[in-house]
Amino acid sequence: MPLLIKNGRVITSTEDRMADVYAEGETITRIEDTIDPSGLPDDTEIIDAKGRYVFPGFIDPHVHIHLPFMGTNAIDDHASATKAALVGGTTSIIEMICPGPDDEPAAAFKEWKDLAEAGACCDWSFHLSVVRFDELAERQVRDLVANHGVRSFKIFLAYKGALDISDENLFRLMQLAKELDIIITAHCENAEAVNAMQEKLISEGRTGPEWHEPSRPRSVELDGVNHLCTFAELTGARIYIVHTSCGAAVERAMTARKAGVDVTVEAVIPHLVLDSSWAERPDFEGAKYVMSPPLRDPEEHDNLWEALSDRHVATIGTDHAPFNFKGQKDMGRDAFTKIPNGIPSIQERVDLVHTYGVCAGRIDLQTMVDSCSTQAARTFGMYPRKGEIAVGSDADLVIYDPSYESPFCESDSLSKVDYCGYEGMERRGRAEVVTLRGQVVARDGRYVGPESAGCQIPRT
Ligand code: URP
Ligand code: ZN
Ligand code: ZN
Repeated sequence: MPLLIKNGRVITSTEDRMADVYAEGETITRIEDTIDPSGLPDDTEIIDAKGRYVFPGFIDPHVHIHLPFMGTNAIDDHASATKAALVGGTTSIIEMICPGPDDEPAAAFKEWKDLAEAGACCDWSFHLSVVRFDELAERQVRDLVANHGVRSFKIFLAYKGALDISDENLFRLMQLAKELDIIITAHCENAEAVNAMQEKLISEGRTGPEWHEPSRPRSVELDGVNHLCTFAELTGARIYIVHTSCGAAVERAMTARKAGVDVTVEAVIPHLVLDSSWAERPDFEGAKYVMSPPLRDPEEHDNLWEALSDRHVATIGTDHAPFNFKGQKDMGRDAFTKIPNGIPSIQERVDLVHTYGVCAGRIDLQTMVDSCSTQAARTFGMYPRKGEIAVGSDADLVIYDPSYESPFCESDSLSKVDYCGYEGMERRGRAEVVTLRGQVVARDGRYVGPESAGCQIPRT
């Protein structure tokens, strides 16, 4: 059914104008000051967006849904996570394929892809995590790039013995990435240092979730960023540093950029609005706020928002990694090292950025769109099909009510996880209507679209 959005304030990463937007099929075909509905097909769906922003569909470049990790698996499935994404205004996601050290990349790709095809309601793509990198794995990785649309790798300089990669393999992988022109996304911490710090703290009886941050301080993250940047300088590989938690790590990346490294920096929403005191909450509640890199001092909020405003931090993702408080987080009651790492945010990200970024005067609306949509599309080869409102772009649109006010609350969540990490926090703004390729899929916080209609996003 054709779609006409009238009277909205159309906001992209470069423009802010009153305009009508018309989509036929899955694509935007007209953007004009006024479009007269009388000349359109009778079955055109008309949405009045007076007093509303019209944003391009938001893109979350860092999501975990199927995640076998720390002796359990993240609790969402592709249907629940992507419905949560859509009601929150996110129309495209990039999920991390995270195989274990003995798994073959080809089998992992098939496992994740089958799940996404069967369940995802929003559009999707993958970053392929490379853990095993022997001859067989390298052959498979080359084939996945050549024939199956893989355009970004993921590596972990953390999680020793589980997801981390040896320096020898990392160097070879970065040479391969350069050869194939594939970007490497990276979790930067020093795995050995984390391991040693964890052992020390546990042996001293420091076992609660509040000790998670001291076990992986900023210096550990900085060391990881430094390491990755050095390898990038030597190999010429393009790099994307995920979930950067502190100003010093951003600065190190900017130093590398000045030296010629092609580096892009991501922040994730928990690091922008939560701080380390949340992991100190009594009655083991702090476990809900254990993620890596950890939540930092509140002063890092200012550093990260400022870096976003300066565009040194290019993107805001979620690192959505949902583990139930009961039955999963509580596996670590006797030792913080056994608390599955992750904070769910896939539904809340856009409203948090609007509330604590735009309404707080820390970033403007253009920067919000750029960091939550356009830059991810550009960095990962999806632009201008995604991340833009232009003739020819997919009609992924968010009609956003900036005047909506209601605190974040677990009962609003479509994720399967049993808590909301932002419970009770102020929320200003809401995605009122969300369209995916021209079809209305969410209204007023409810999912109203079809099942499993998400598509794999072609990437250049
Ligand atoms: O704590 C986190 N970030 N959990 C998910 C896995 C990862 O490191 O991205
Ligand atoms: Zn990570
Ligand atoms: Zn992650």
